[in-house]
Amino acid sequence: MKKVLKIIGFGLGGLVLLLAGFCAYVVAVGVPTYDPPTIPEVTVERTPARVARGEVIAQIQCMACHADSENRLTGKHLAEAPSLFGKLYSKNITQDQEKGIGSWTDGELMYFLRTGVRRDGTYAPIMPQYPNMADEDLKSVVAWLRSDRFPVQPTRQEAPPTELSFVSLLLTHTLMKPLAYSPEPIALPDSTDPVALGRYTADAIGDCYGCHSGDMIDQSKTHPEKSKGYYGGGIEMKDEAGKTVVTANLTFDEQTGIAKKYTKEQFIRVVKLGVRPDGSILRQPMFPRPMLSDHEAGAIYEYLKTVPKIHHDIAKKSADVQLAER
Ligand code: HEC
Ligand code: HEC
Repeated sequence: MKKVLKIIGFGLGGLVLLLAGFCAYVVAVGVPTYDPPTIPEVTVERTPARVARGEVIAQIQCMACHADSENRLTGKHLAEAPSLFGKLYSKNITQDQEKGIGSWTDGELMYFLRTGVRRDGTYAPIMPQYPNMADEDLKSVVAWLRSDRFPVQPTRQEAPPTELSFVSLLLTHTLMKPLAYSPEPIALPDSTDPVALGRYTADAIGDCYGCHSGDMIDQSKTHPEKSKGYYGGGIEMKDEAGKTVVTANLTFDEQTGIAKKYTKEQFIRVVKLGVRPDGSILRQPMFPRPMLSDHEAGAIYEYLKTVPKIHHDIAKKSADVQLAER
């Protein structure tokens, strides 16, 4: 009997040592680096149509995280992120050669936006990846980054470096990984099919599921519908005042979803203007998206109707959180 206990004791001790060793390793290595990738050579033609479309996508995505108070993409503190992940800052993505992305090639930008990996093999874990964005839309984003628009003009100002928490570092050694670069071209959705267009706008461009699912980590960037609690909401985020705000359940669950809350017109209005039918205004980090057309916002509504319903009472969760914060 004693012998057995001793063996178990040694086993456990060994396990603890191993774990401690792994943690020390994670801290020492930091975010893992990968082999410098082979990046396809691409030259993106900068047409006015592309710059205009790129601007729409930038307003839905890039501006929220990269624009400073003067609307220039110099990088900023991401205050809405749960503090569990550390102190997060985005980067200067203006055309400045040194501080920004002036020296990146078009191919490098496209590769990075899909995979999260830079030309030197370093990996950016906090920056979202866009593996399902159509080639044409990705090219539009690049065309806009290269354009004469105000936010992307070269600026040397930059944000402090990110301080990742131990949890984040651990995640980069386990669950968070760069994505593979698909050599297959990705086509735009059929814009006359509302469900297809809605799905593309919400998942591939809008990253709506990234906040409106059940968990920030248990998500699939390549197959968003496999994310835990897909569109069931419930993630706790911070508004500008540092108060917790819980993301909404966007499924059509009759009791707890948006089925009864919004007609299609009301949904288009809340997404584009940030105002609910009762006149209340959505809080940060949810921001109005007037750059979406009614057709696109309405298509998201049509798509959400097809998403499996999830019973998840966000109003109750919100009330509980507020009570705890008092
Ligand atoms: C949720 C916030 C968020 C959004 C949205 C976002 N970014 Fe970022 N981005 C970041 C953060 C944070 C970093 C720094 C990542 C790091 O160093 O690990 C970053 C880094 C980058 C870099 C690398 C810069 C460098 O010098 O290493 C590029 C390029 C970039 N973003 C472009 C974009 C573009 C283009 C868009 C819109 C399509 C976009 N980002 C949307 C947060 C965001
Ligand atoms: C950065 C995280 C984030 C992203 C991205 C995001 N949302 Fe939200 N959304 C929220 C939060 C937080 C709330 C709750 C705001 C509140 O309670 O005031 C919210 C609320 C909403 C509401 C109101 C629901 C209600 O109960 O009244 C709708 C509709 C909505 N979002 C749709 C969308 C759509 C469509 C997209 C993609 C285009 C999107 N959201 C992207 C965080 C996000």
